[in-house]
Order: sequence, then C-alpha cells, then structure tokens
Amino acid sequence: MKKVYLETFGCQMNVSDSERVASTLSDKGFEMTVREDDADIVLINTCSVRERAEHKLYTRVGQIRKSFKKKPYVGVLGCVAQLEGETLFEKIEGIELVVGTRAVGRISNVIARVLNGEEGIVDLGDREKDYDWTVSNPQRHSPYVAFVPIIEGCNKFCTYCIVPFSRGREVSLPASEIIRSVLELRRNGIKEVHLIGQNVNSYRPGTESGLEDFKGSTPFSRLLRAVSATGIERIKFNTSFPRDFHPDIVDAINEHENLCNWVHLPVQSGSDEVLRRMKRGHTIESYKKKIDRLRESGRDISITTDIIVGFPGEREKDFRDTVDLVDYAGYDAAYIFKYSPRPGTPAFDMEDDVPAAEKTRRFLELESAQRRSQSTRLRRYLGKTVEVLVEKQGVKFEGQVSGHSTCHKVVNFHGPENLIGSIAKVQVSEIKSNSLFGQLSMQN
Ligand code: SAH
Ligand code: SF4
Ligand code: F3S
Repeated sequence: MKKVYLETFGCQMNVSDSERVASTLSDKGFEMTVREDDADIVLINTCSVRERAEHKLYTRVGQIRKSFKKKPYVGVLGCVAQLEGETLFEKIEGIELVVGTRAVGRISNVIARVLNGEEGIVDLGDREKDYDWTVSNPQRHSPYVAFVPIIEGCNKFCTYCIVPFSRGREVSLPASEIIRSVLELRRNGIKEVHLIGQNVNSYRPGTESGLEDFKGSTPFSRLLRAVSATGIERIKFNTSFPRDFHPDIVDAINEHENLCNWVHLPVQSGSDEVLRRMKRGHTIESYKKKIDRLRESGRDISITTDIIVGFPGEREKDFRDTVDLVDYAGYDAAYIFKYSPRPGTPAFDMEDDVPAAEKTRRFLELESAQRRSQSTRLRRYLGKTVEVLVEKQGVKFEGQVSGHSTCHKVVNFHGPENLIGSIAKVQVSEIKSNSLFGQLSMQN
C-alpha cells in the first residue's frame, strides 16, 4: 500500500479540497500518513495569495529533497499549480506532478500514471460533471466540524487579488446537493457546518434551485434558511463580500438560532480612494451601514475583517482612515496583511510605491490599534455564558479542553475529556489576546 502525505496551505477552500483528495485516495487504496518522512508520495496543496504564501512551496520542496531519507514523489496541487502549470517543472527541481484547483478529483489517476513511470504530468482541467463533493468522515479536519463548499471561484477581480485567476469563475453548487450533504453530515454526528466560498453571499444557483419555499430576498439568505431547517446544531459561513451583504442575511440570523452570530466581512481599507483603486465595489459609507445593521441585530454578532496596508498609492491620510474605521467597526478580530504584488493582477502594473519599512510601520500601528479596540470590545463577554463546541484537549494545560463559541472565538476551560464532541455552556472569566477563558457553567 503506497503512503501519501498531504500538506495544505491557504484558505478553507484548500483545506476542503484536501479533505476530498484524502478521501478519494483512501477509497482508492492509498494510505494517508501523518509522517512525512515515511511517505511514498508527498502532495502539497498550495496558496498564491501573497508572495510569502507561494514561497512556502519552494521552501518545502527544498526541505523534502534535502532531508528525507526516502525520496518520495512530489506533487503540487492548488492555486500555485493552477497558475504556474508546467512552468513549475522548470522552476522547481524534483516534482513529478502538477494538479490544478479543479482537477483534484482525478488525483488518483494522476498518481497511478506517476507510479507507472510517466513524467511531467499536468492536469489543469475542470471538475468532472459528476464530481463527488463528499468527504468520508475520518478525512475531515475535525470529526465535529465540516466545511461545505457552496460556491467556488470569484468574479470580482479586486485589483490586488490572484484568486479569480487561480480559482476561475463563480460556480454555485445546487442547493439540493448542499442540503442533502448537511443532512448527511448531521446524521454522521457533525455539529457545525461552515458554508464556504470566496464570496458566499454571491451564491446564485440555477433557476430550479429548490429554494422557492424559503423566504428571503437573495438566493443566499434563502439558502441560509434552508440549511437552518435541516436542524443541524450550528451553521457558520464565510467569506461575505461587503457589496453583496444584504440586510436580509442579518434578518435570517435573527430568526434562526442555529445560524451563528459571526460574520466575516473584509473591508480591505478605510479609504474610499483606495477602495476604488482596489475595485472593491463598496464605499466606507455603505460598509458602515452594513456594520450598523449588524449591530442593530438583537443577537450579539461578532464581526471580523481582513485589511491590506500599503496598497499602491496609499497615503498617510488613507491609512489614518483605516485606523479610524477599525475604531468605528469594533472588530472582534482583524487579519492584517501587507500588500504583496501578484504577477498577473491589475495592481501589479501600479507602482508599488509604499516602501517596505513604511508598510511594516503601518502594519504594526494598525495591529496595535486593533489590539486595543479588540480588548475593549471583547470585555463584553466577561461574565457572559457562551456555547462552546468542545473539539479537543487544551494544548497548554492538562485538564483543559478547547473549542469554538458560536461567535467563533477559541474558548479554553477546565473540563473533562468526555465533553469533547458536545456543546458546553461556559461562563467567560478571562479575555486573552486571541481567545477566551472560562468555567464550565452549572447550567450544563
Ligand atoms: N474572498 C475574500 C478573500 C480572499 S483572500 C474576500 O473577498 O474578502 C484573503 C485575504 O487576503 C483578502 O481578504 C485580502 O485581505 C488578502 N489579500 C489578497 N490578495 C492580497 C495581496 N495581493 N496582498 C496582500 N493581501 C492580499
Ligand atoms: Fe479576491 Fe476580491 Fe475575489 Fe475576494 S472578492 S477572492 S479579494 S478578487
Ligand atoms: Fe490561497 Fe488559493 Fe485560497 S490563493 S487563499 S489557497 S483560493
């Protein structure tokens, strides 16, 4: 039995693709191993969103070639594979196969060809018509949480972003298939599903969507209500594209307890001028209205975001607007990135005129502004009871278990191991920089 080691970089879409790769390979008689130096085949599922992410591939292949006693076959999957295709064979020595973002369903055939001695195999083709979106349970990143893709690709072409090139155009999965898969996950003991896609709220299935019976002013909010009706304990979704973030999504959250109180709404910049050059399709005023709408909800909805600093032409004044926006929005968490020029994107042709040291300064200043705002904001949880899906033993201390709240915080608390896999009520007693700490509530 050939052993396969699979390593994944990048976003949830990559994690989800990797789960299906592992599932397919196990079904086809390969053994998935967690020991990289024991593998006959090493697959690396890659990300290209920033230069550093792409660079990880080069570093990893170098390490594998240098330090592994057994020389495994090495395959590159994912976004770098899709973008580079066969040029990867020239760029990196020691790889045998390149499989693009939508070709992963054919991974076992590709590996069989490699094992047969074929060289330089590239598959950048589309998903098969009958592509199997299921994942057998042992191959999931968690036995209790499942990622369910609802839309893949991106049509937005934000000027800095490589994703529309690596993932192709938006394709929405049929609602009936999504619902069927959530029902099956529920039967198999999954407690929480994440509906995932580059822009989940751009969800647009065909005309006979099967969502006609559900109320809602957009297909996405109808889908949310339909998934809610499956009775699965918890539903999260990400990422939401601000321009398409309709108030009806907030209504759906208000109406359905199992739609979790967390929205990831990447703003990217606090300056209209920068947003225009990024082609985000929203202004700060329209974005703030969406934040206000979320804040008016009866539920305490946690809002998180992504921000890029040092985009071409970003002046100090634009940056100050971003700092102000962070204060206004009161994010529960923000992922801040320094702008990284990606070849092939429109912004690559703009002058990358914010010097590296200045990007770092803005990054650090924004990070500390967010940390300040976050620590004030998170204090609202003190003394409150949150519902935690207990996922594993705590990493740092014995006797602790760890999981995520409905508002998507990591929560650690003292509790018995047999709570793992269930939902516990935890009273928050301490706010850490990126997590909450609490005590198992007596009401459990
Ligand atoms: N679809 C999501 C984001 C996908 S990429 C959305 O539209 O929000 C995840 C994050 O990476 C983006 O939100 C952005 O903040 C960041 N990012 C994308 N391209 C980047 C680049 N060239 N340089 C720096 N950060 C980038
Ligand atoms: Fe990239 Fe913009 Fe598409 Fe998000 S919406 S994946 S940032 S192009
Ligand atoms: Fe990276 Fe591709 Fe996701 S570029 S962020 S792995 S879609």
